[in-house]
Amino acid sequence: MQKMQKKNIVVLTGAGISAESGLGTFRDNNGLWEKHRVEDVATPEAFERNPELVYRFYNERRKQLFSDIEPNPAHYALAKLEQALGERFLLVTQNVDNLHERAGSKRILHMHGELLSAFCCYSEKRFVLTGDIDVNSRCECCTPAQPVRPDIVWFGEMPYHMESISKALQQADVFISIGTSGNVYPAAGFVREANFYGAQTIELNLEPSENGTDFQAAEYGKAGEVVPRFVDNLIAELN
Ligand code: OAD
Repeated sequence: MQKMQKKNIVVLTGAGISAESGLGTFRDNNGLWEKHRVEDVATPEAFERNPELVYRFYNERRKQLFSDIEPNPAHYALAKLEQALGERFLLVTQNVDNLHERAGSKRILHMHGELLSAFCCYSEKRFVLTGDIDVNSRCECCTPAQPVRPDIVWFGEMPYHMESISKALQQADVFISIGTSGNVYPAAGFVREANFYGAQTIELNLEPSENGTDFQAAEYGKAGEVVPRFVDNLIAELN
């Protein structure tokens, strides 16, 4: 059997990994995300129709990151796996929070953007954002200064880093999907891509996801319990 240290591992995470840290998932509350329909806060049309609501919604989410929210054992386990694998590891997250980074992850791509980033609507440049923004906020990159929006990939927009992700999936020996419902593409299609290129595919989730049958193996339970155990077993195979 091929040694684990010779293996390339791609991990995809979704809202479920941050649930035990106290951040609400998208689809576990009758389709409401923090009391809002996703279509009212996470589409370009919603932003055009009611920008105040959309700014406020993401300002609140950003503020949450500065409250008592902490990474949980699942985030730390993935940072530990990265330490063990180095360049052979890539973490792709759909999450816009910063809990993976706070747990120590470095080889991470945020395919749906980040709460702690703002996006200039004119130059398309990004900059670090820790406070609130609103309709009157302006960038520092243009003259005259231009409006900025949350650096979040909304429904109907192209996710970030797709080329790098695709390349990593083609080279992956193992693909692990954690805490995602498998409802949103292209992320929900990564398992099929990984299967196609010959990777071993594993789902770690609270329950079978929409595309659960596409995975070759699965473990169900809370991420904070399942992921550390799974990662420890994987690392034990390194030797
Ligand atoms: P979802 O809310 O759709 O799914 C979260 C998944 O996590 C569900 O399958 C839950 O069963 C599972 N889950 C809940 N608690 C868990 C726990 N403690 N441990 C393990 N699993 C748990 O979230 P995503 O799949 O991440 O996009 O949603 C994908 C995208 O849709 C998001 O990135 C966002 C959203 O609308 C944008 O905003 C563009």
